[in-house]
Order: sequence, then C-alpha cells, then structure tokens
Amino acid sequence: EYKVRKFPEHFLWGASSSAFQIEGAAAEDGKGRTVADVNAAKRAHLQADTRVASDFYHRFQEDIELFARLGLKAYRFSLSWARIIPDGDGPVNEAGLEFYDQVIDRLKYHGIEPLVTLYHFDLPYRLVEQYNGWESRECVHAFERYARICFARYGNRVKYWQVHNEQNLMIRVDERMNIRAEDPWEADRQRAQMDYHMFLAHALAVRACRELAPGAFVGPAISSTCTYPATPDPRDVWAARSNDRFKTEYALEMYTAGRYPGYYLRYLQERNIMPETRSGDGALLAGARIDYLGVNYYRTLCASYLPADPSHPAGQRQFRGNEVDFDQFGYFRDERNPFLEASEYGAQIDPMGLRLVLNEYYRKYRLPMIITENGLGAADVLSADGQVHDPGRIAYLKSHINACADAIADGVELFGYCPWSVMDLLSSHQGFKKRYGLIYVNRDDLELRDLRRIPKDSFYWYQNVIRNNGL
Ligand code: BG6
Repeated sequence: EYKVRKFPEHFLWGASSSAFQIEGAAAEDGKGRTVADVNAAKRAHLQADTRVASDFYHRFQEDIELFARLGLKAYRFSLSWARIIPDGDGPVNEAGLEFYDQVIDRLKYHGIEPLVTLYHFDLPYRLVEQYNGWESRECVHAFERYARICFARYGNRVKYWQVHNEQNLMIRVDERMNIRAEDPWEADRQRAQMDYHMFLAHALAVRACRELAPGAFVGPAISSTCTYPATPDPRDVWAARSNDRFKTEYALEMYTAGRYPGYYLRYLQERNIMPETRSGDGALLAGARIDYLGVNYYRTLCASYLPADPSHPAGQRQFRGNEVDFDQFGYFRDERNPFLEASEYGAQIDPMGLRLVLNEYYRKYRLPMIITENGLGAADVLSADGQVHDPGRIAYLKSHINACADAIADGVELFGYCPWSVMDLLSSHQGFKKRYGLIYVNRDDLELRDLRRIPKDSFYWYQNVIRNNGL
C-alpha cells in the first residue's frame, strides 16, 4: 500500500539520553552522589554502574560529532542536579555548569537543538540523607533554586525544557524515591506526599522559566501507555481505564489544570494519605500552564479485573511481581496481549498504541507534543564483520514513526520524535546489556573494553529517515 506520510517542515528529528545513564564520571570534578548512583551500585554486575556508563563525560566532543553525522536536529538529554549543586542545595559547582555549557555549545555549533530535562531519576543523595528527599518541602525549594540556576545559565541557548522525566512512573518505584517503609500504608503516604511536592516543584520551575528564559517552551516528559481490557467485560474495561487514569492521566490533569481529578482525590481520602498542603499551593499549581507535552512511549498493557479479597483492605499489597502490575490502587491483573509480540525483555510492541495515545492526549489537552522517548531494548552484539545488525530496532522505529505520521494526519500537533537512546547506555535498572542505542558502545556489564562507538544498522537507517524528513 502506497501512502505519502508527511512530517512538518522543521520537525525535530532527535534522540535521547539521560545524565546518569550516559555520562559516567559519577564522582569526578566535584559531582555529588545521587540516588541513581547508589541504586546502580547496589546491583552493579561489576562494572555496570554510573562510574563509567557510556563515558560521554569524557567523549562528548566526538560523540556530538557522531550525532551530527547522524543528522540529528535535536538532542534530548538531562542535566545532573548533583553535578551542578553537589549537595542538592549547597554551593554551586562551576565545573558542572561548565560541562553543560560545553555540551550545549557543541550541539549548537553543529546546528543541533538542545532539549533539556532538569531531573531524570537522579536526586542528589544528600537531600535524602538530610530529610528524605521529596518527602520534605525543603526539597521543593532546593529544586526551584536548581531550576533557576539552570534557566539563568542556559536559558539564552536552550529553547525546550522538560522539568521532570516520568514523574508518574518514578513515583511508583520505591527505590527511585528512596521509599523504604516496610508498612505499605506508610510507603503510600510518603509516595503521595512526594508526588505532591514534585508537582509543586514542577509548577515553580515553570514559573521560573517564564521569568528567566522568556520565549522558551517548558513542560513535563510523561511516561505514557494505553491499557486495553482483556475482554469486553465492563469490569475489565473499568480495570483498564483505571490503570491509565491512576498511572498517567491524574498527572496530566495536574500538569494541565493544576488540580487532582476526583477519582484521585477519592483514592487519597479513602487511603487516608492526603498530602499536606499550604495556602497558596492551589494558585501556584493552577497558574503553571505548560507549553507542550513530552511523551515517552514504549509499549501497551492489557488488564483484567481482579476481585479484591475482602479480607485485605483496599490498597494492601498482597500480590507481588508480575501478577499485579498496579497494586497501589486496586487489583488489576496484568495480562499478555495475544495480538502483540513482545520484545526479548517482555515489552509488548504496539505502534497503533502510540497513535491512540497521541490522539487521546491531543483530544483532551490540546497541547503540542514531542516524543521524548521511544525505542527497543535488545541484547545487541558486535558481529564478526565488525558491525551491529539490529533489524528488530529498525522495524520497531519504522512502525512507530509511521504511527506518528498517522497521528499527524489525524490532526495531532507533533513537533518532534526522539528515540531512546542516542547510543547504548545504562538501562534504568538492567545494566548495560539491555541496549537501546543507535550507536553501539563497546563494553558490557562485566568488561569495559575500549568503549569504541560503532554506528549500528539502525543509525544508517535513521540517518536516511532524517535526510528525507520521514518520507
Ligand atoms: C524510561 C526512562 O522509562 O525508559 C529511561 O525514562 C529508561 O531512563 C527507559 O532507560 C528504558 O527503560 P529501561 O528500564 O529498559 O532502561
């Protein structure tokens, strides 16, 4: 079937990374320790932690040259809060600021638009030691100060900002939030308070961006998915809808309208974990209108209703592991979707789901969107011919780019696409073997090797996509 698929002129063909996953140099030039450093070290299969990662910190000049060869119009990356303010809220580390000056200048030199995320899972650890991080209101102020420093320093060169990466996913991963409470109720109480504080921090950052970087665009990068009901049984439909609402839509409502939706307030009330608020918060949240949505999309889910066991109060976690994907808010069983294939790491691959998500968000929020992450994790290998053949990734990216084209034809305002990830880097929690990159980095979990960069087949394929503006 022949179909002309059009992308707008100046569409931002990009690629993504994050600081703790790509930089390495975790303790160099004054950088402070982060929650991400501590977590990666815990599961370090010897070398696979944040000390070296992809060694971008030492190789960014040549790496950015490779990005330019790829033809990138945009590069989405995060700043490390603890590289800029090692304690999170103490003295500023000029070396950290200078590092990002150089990265941004190098990108600009090559005509690559920097898309900057302020916070991608790597809270300065000192803030955890001082007051359990986001549980405290102090953390909100520390973040605002950090955001102001970044806008003041880079605002003249950076046009697109994302405040938090995947707050809505991060908040549910205890390790990332440093939630250690054994008691599930206490863990959820902390989670609700932290989540609320992160929304306040987001709003303060949006406000600061308007002031210090006028003309810039600011918004969140959200973890998105779409949950299908396992059957037409209305209870399954309800389970699936609830999953999306409690995982994603409540956060989108907060970002776009500055308040929690009714079902979410009800959950907080019934669980007796309503966060502490202060007067003035409501106006702050409502006043922090975002310019666009960054959408991270990998896969879809499938849910069936699981009747609650009356002997367990709602929200108690009697199910573990994969049996229940979303146990904080009720009982929904995570099912396999018989119509979709899964990646070798179990992600159900679903380009049509991306078209659905983009249409749905656009209909509801009427905001321009950019794909800030989308990609396939696979254990790629360096072949005997010295190349890396990754047809699975090419097929994945191709089908998802087509879904973007369809969404644009449906009327969605999509202004960019950034696959995860520009090069191989540390997975968020599964070491180095699980690779997403367009560029192979010659190392693995156990051995650092020479860290040589080898463009994969997908690199050349994507180069061609960019050259032809997606046609
Ligand atoms: C996103 C994160 O959730 O998914 C990235 O923003 C992460 O940091 C990516 O790397 C892929 O997930 P994983 O766990 O396979 O690395």
